[in-house]
Amino acid sequence: MEDYRLVLRISAEELKKQVNDLAARINRDYEGKSLIVVGILKGACIFLSDLVRRLSMPVEIDFVRLASYGKSSETSGEIKLTKDVELPVEGRHVLVVEDIVDTGTTLVWFIDYLRQRQPESVKICALVDKLERREVEVPLDYVGIRVDKGFLVGYGLDFAEKHRNLPEIHEVEFLN
Ligand code: IMP
Ligand code: MG
Repeated sequence: MEDYRLVLRISAEELKKQVNDLAARINRDYEGKSLIVVGILKGACIFLSDLVRRLSMPVEIDFVRLASYGKSSETSGEIKLTKDVELPVEGRHVLVVEDIVDTGTTLVWFIDYLRQRQPESVKICALVDKLERREVEVPLDYVGIRVDKGFLVGYGLDFAEKHRNLPEIHEVEFLN
């Protein structure tokens, strides 16, 4: 068992402000349209719940589960879809909601997969962008917070399935 402590990085108040700002932009961009919001489980569930309650257009919600291997803090390249989109997305505007974009591998894989269903448009909304860790290019349309490094937990984000329920975002500081 790794020994670590949590250091506060983004307060609940700051998260609320970011979610409000993102929702305001999305509301402007999709005015007069309807939207399918697809959350990537499990990490995006809390962010998505707060975000959709700020949206003013007609919204339908769906989820996918993309398992990338391992329970550690490192993402491996292998991706598996363990729960698919259920709503018909053909001809619809789709907004993919992700908790955090790290290497970008997961999202690139999923966006490719989604486009095969021929939606009218696909945009991506990510709460946290770890740009310096990017390995593949992924166009993020809406980004809440940019961070450079560190492993984050809380507000949906986990470390070995723990800490998703924290109302703030913390950084995991490993002790030795
Ligand atoms: P990517 O494919 O490398 O971009 O990995 C994205 C996924 O890895 C996210 O959806 C998270 O599930 C996980 N992940 C990446 N960085 C973190 C982090 O700092 N905390 C928690 N999960 C993370
Ligand atoms: Mg995730």
